[in-house]
Amino acid sequence: MFVPKVNERLSLGTETYYFTEHPALVGRNMPYGQTGRRATVFQLRGEDGKKRALKVFAAMYRNDENLYKTGKLLKYSDFPGLETCERFVISKNQFPSLIQENRDLDYSVLMPWIEGQTWQDVVLSKKMLSKDTCLENATELNRVLSTMEKSKVAHCDLSGPNLIIRPKGMKNSDADPISLIDLEEMYAPDLTRPNKLPAGSAGYAHCTASKGLWSPDADRFAGSILLANMLAWCDPVVVDATFGENYFAQDEMHTYCNRYQILTSSLARIWGRATAELFDAAWHSKELRDCPTFADWANEFQLDIEEIQIPAPPPEPVDRRSGWTNPNPIPTNGVGPVSGFIPLFPGQSAGSGSIPQPVSVEPSEKSKDPDSVQSRIGATRTRTGFSEITKLANWREIYDPERDGDKDESKNIAEKQSVSLSTDPDAKYFWAALAVFGLIILLASLGVFG
Ligand SMILES: Nc1ncnc2c1ncn2[C@@H]1O[C@H](COP(=O)(O)OP(=O)(O)O)[C@@H](O)[C@H]1O
Ligand SMILES: [Mg+2]
Repeated sequence: MFVPKVNERLSLGTETYYFTEHPALVGRNMPYGQTGRRATVFQLRGEDGKKRALKVFAAMYRNDENLYKTGKLLKYSDFPGLETCERFVISKNQFPSLIQENRDLDYSVLMPWIEGQTWQDVVLSKKMLSKDTCLENATELNRVLSTMEKSKVAHCDLSGPNLIIRPKGMKNSDADPISLIDLEEMYAPDLTRPNKLPAGSAGYAHCTASKGLWSPDADRFAGSILLANMLAWCDPVVVDATFGENYFAQDEMHTYCNRYQILTSSLARIWGRATAELFDAAWHSKELRDCPTFADWANEFQLDIEEIQIPAPPPEPVDRRSGWTNPNPIPTNGVGPVSGFIPLFPGQSAGSGSIPQPVSVEPSEKSKDPDSVQSRIGATRTRTGFSEITKLANWREIYDPERDGDKDESKNIAEKQSVSLSTDPDAKYFWAALAVFGLIILLASLGVFG
């Protein structure tokens, strides 16, 4: 089990992070981490003071599925509430010596830290909200889910602990009021089906969820429960009736239980019959497709939902020198990964996959220039809250097992070294050939052959 110390340093390529202290346990040397069903998410502080989240998976959930879908997830980070799609997966492919020393970090996910409270925390605290706040929360969640629905995207494990609400008036007004987290099993037409499908969470799972959730309509039932629950959180009778960390107990789902009756009558009284009927349709549905859509809910709130244009996928850069494929390919504007990019060889184009990419020529040097990082992100990105992702995605640690005798030394050298032409075997042949050619020219000019 991975238990970092407070202020312990985590060096990733050119980036340095520190584990933070739990704000409720100051002075007790407790790192700030939240544990879910599969992982613990720690808070990190970057050298720039920005907070990041590091999701460290329990051993049985560490697999390379995340690694390969990360590049595809990135474009959804422009959707409202999906900023944690902007993420980076730490793996032994890129950080062999770091993972050798901390095996638990293999396949861990680095992403933006989302300030706020989970909906589960709100329910558990039994703290009633004002009618206006309830409407704001519900319409924001509806906006997030309707925008996803328009592009056939679904979370697939929508539930109280997987949703963070940012309290009103918090600094940094650019951030979304509601964010979905735990996005590893997200459905989208271009994402690969996970080997093990999510089966819903207690208090939010439809009767069909045990067959596995992986479809564009996967969120309809859980989303209707969350919306109804959020709308009614201004009614003391509803707040008082809650089961615990969820409003419903799992064995009450789809039944004519007391909590169902309290909730529907509260919705009808406060928000009108039509709202109560939307929830009712979901509660009595036999299939997910029978539940109301998020467009139906948006219609009820008279919300206009914007459709987000998804940029065309960039070609995946392949480093043929080693057969290593960059698991986190960087979206570019189609011109090149770096502005002012000049091909090293004729016919070379960015992301062509046929020639060594200039991405890792000197990461430590490039990282000094923030503009180069921005320009690499290119025209397809509008949200750049997690700017170091580009630097991390381009980093490749050189691992030399012969240096294993002196671990500290090996770690220092390995993680500070960049992939440069001089370390490239192909490049070595090139320079050797050039040297031989030069020698022949010299000998010829000296008349050795004549
Ligand atoms: N990016 C994030 N920012 C802030 N807190 C987070 C973030 N991601 C997760 N958390 C916290 O960690 C908990 C567990 O994370 P989650 O991704 O849901 O793990 P699991 O897959 O184990 O359910 C969440 O309920 C939430 O409290
Ligand atoms: Mg979770």
